[in-house]
Amino acid sequence: MKTMKFFAFVVAACMLLAGCSQSAPQEEGFSIGILQYMEHTSLDEIRTAVEEELQQKATELGKPISVEVKNAQGDPTNIGTIANQFVGDNKDLIIAIATPAAAGAAAVTEEIPIVFSAVTNPVEDLQIDSLEQPGGNITGTSDAIPVEKIINVSQEITPQANCYGILYCTSEPSSSGVVQQAKEVLEQQGKTFVEAAVTNTSEVQQATEKLIEQCDAIFVPIDNTVATAMSVVADLAKDAKIPVYAAADSMVRDGALASAGVNYTNLGKKTAQMAVEILQGANSASMEVQVMEDVNVVVNEDTAKAIGVDVSQYLQ
Ligand code: TRP
Repeated sequence: MKTMKFFAFVVAACMLLAGCSQSAPQEEGFSIGILQYMEHTSLDEIRTAVEEELQQKATELGKPISVEVKNAQGDPTNIGTIANQFVGDNKDLIIAIATPAAAGAAAVTEEIPIVFSAVTNPVEDLQIDSLEQPGGNITGTSDAIPVEKIINVSQEITPQANCYGILYCTSEPSSSGVVQQAKEVLEQQGKTFVEAAVTNTSEVQQATEKLIEQCDAIFVPIDNTVATAMSVVADLAKDAKIPVYAAADSMVRDGALASAGVNYTNLGKKTAQMAVEILQGANSASMEVQVMEDVNVVVNEDTAKAIGVDVSQYLQ
């Protein structure tokens, strides 16, 4: 009899355990892979904001979100390897920071939801259907670049600037549209320009030196490759007393004179919020791409002093 009772107890205990383990997945958290294209001030800022917001949301949800961060160091082969690893690990969602990372993730999975961050031209460069209805498994945030505003600010600070050197990398998809717009705006305003196109970071120094000889201002579009070498550009330009006008606030923190652009911490937070909505069941295909359009003018006071220009009207 005792044996029977014990047996019944063991069976009951097993059923309880089995029951528990069946409900366990509901209690389990989510697993996200973050693929960052390369390291530079702005992409690092975005990643930090994404991670902080995800942890904040996890606390609100009462569920853990485990995050694996991988940096492709600007190498297309690494992008593919990391994206494939995330797919192999069966991540619940992938967050891809910057255009090349997003394109690489989109190339390896149509199943796992992808939320991209800071992709300047998602319709052209990621072939989504539209900003309103991206379709497929991919949506995210985009940074609008106010090219005309940047050129106007440049003319307010240095009205004598007539020839602009445009410095960009040929393989950066986010740059090409902005370069095109910059040329149009400069032409409309009766200015001239010279282009210096590099193929990688190591060419930035020489290209900058050339532009300094030919021009009286430098314009840098939203270019990841040039962003990684921004301090080189800024130091050379400072020595030559040439103003550098850039497409992102991070480049001003790294020594450029001025910029008008979006807030990338807000953009990172928004990216994380979209990711959490999808993890909770929202459909990425119909989730509108969020274009960050609140533009701030930022100036670097140290650079202004070093090259002898007045930026007081932009200081709060
Ligand atoms: N928008 C860029 C892209 O689409 C990424 C980016 C975000 C960036 N912040 C930047 C590039 C600052 C240069 C500087 O790839």
